[in-house]
Amino acid sequence: MNVKPFIIPFLFATLILIQSCNNGQPKDIVADNFNFAAQQLQYAIELTGEAVSKDSRDSASKARRPLASPRTLEEDGSLKMVPVRDWTSGFFPGELWFMYEKTGDQEWKERAIQFTEPLQVLRHHTGTHDLGFMVYNSFGNGLRLTGNSGFKEILLDAARSLSTRYKPGAKIIRSWDHNRDKWQCPVIIDNMMNLELLFWAFKESGDSTFYRIAVNHANSTMKNHFRPDYSTYHVVDYDTITGEVLNRHTHQGFAHESTWSRGQAWALYGYTLMYRETGDQAYLNQANHIAEYIFTHPRLPEDLIPYWDFDAPEIPNEPRDVSAAAITASALYELSSYNGGDAGRYTRWADTVLENLTTDYRATPGADGGFLLLHSTGAKSLNSEIDVPLVYADYYYLEALLRKSRIEDNRPLF
Ligand code: GLY
Repeated sequence: MNVKPFIIPFLFATLILIQSCNNGQPKDIVADNFNFAAQQLQYAIELTGEAVSKDSRDSASKARRPLASPRTLEEDGSLKMVPVRDWTSGFFPGELWFMYEKTGDQEWKERAIQFTEPLQVLRHHTGTHDLGFMVYNSFGNGLRLTGNSGFKEILLDAARSLSTRYKPGAKIIRSWDHNRDKWQCPVIIDNMMNLELLFWAFKESGDSTFYRIAVNHANSTMKNHFRPDYSTYHVVDYDTITGEVLNRHTHQGFAHESTWSRGQAWALYGYTLMYRETGDQAYLNQANHIAEYIFTHPRLPEDLIPYWDFDAPEIPNEPRDVSAAAITASALYELSSYNGGDAGRYTRWADTVLENLTTDYRATPGADGGFLLLHSTGAKSLNSEIDVPLVYADYYYLEALLRKSRIEDNRPLF
């Protein structure tokens, strides 16, 4: 029989999994998921090797090279890899760092370095606001776990590159450079996530410019991106001289006035990290209100995994967005640690999300491109990545599991 090498450890893991299950739910959800992730990510690494060598034989795809990380599956089920400049390039190396964090296994560290190092060219990239996602999740996790001083310099350069996008007249960081005919200076709610890199750079360098930019951006976003019920607009377009809001639009959501689920998740995570970094109660209040919006929403399904947009017209016959659920769970564990009285409520919501993702949304072991979770939605409104695995869903799933285990072991989250 021709058995591929990755199948053998997978069979053992499956056996252990079957023995340790309790009513369909593994007894130790963190250990179970990290065992599963070990098999899947090993398989994914094998597939990346195949995808890169196939791509190098295809002269039509030269412009996209070099391919760096997996992002999702193509329609034919093959792995879709992206080059370093794709906004998702840092998530796969980040997952490998999480594997090293959980296991202490040097092999995971070597693999993490292998997928992190090619991203160093991004340190001088000023063409996107997504540097936080790309560089902080890869080099930032690497620095946290290894203390590698070379990583520090790369991260500082990246923070400087991100800061070049700051527009003092409007007190925001410009998100996108595309669609210039539609928007003068678009800022998307997702941009809150990239502030973490700036706070790190402030603490590392002592340069308060990084801090000021992050706080100003968060304050402008708090003022202009939210409706009175704490739902978010996806895109706010600014006049860079006067700071006036020109438009409030969506790009990936259902409609300008709808609530795109992943945007709401980025907002929750973003204002939670703002409280962590500043201690300003206004950000904690904001995060609490956003959590309330999500978890008391009448169209949030019983299993707490949202549809791709809270106002999608065909609910309940709309795809879910597992990535929004995973981001939200990770943010909720952190938020629980700042909320004495409400902590139990937040951890219960997060635990339920993780339990349901584990039971009902996980990929098939040894298949599905080595991804961990199915049923995410990238941009249904653009007819792109509908009901697929997405690398960032997996990244925040592992991060949430690590946070859960820290809380349960009474270890500090940061
Ligand atoms: N930051 C891009 C997205 O959430 O799709």
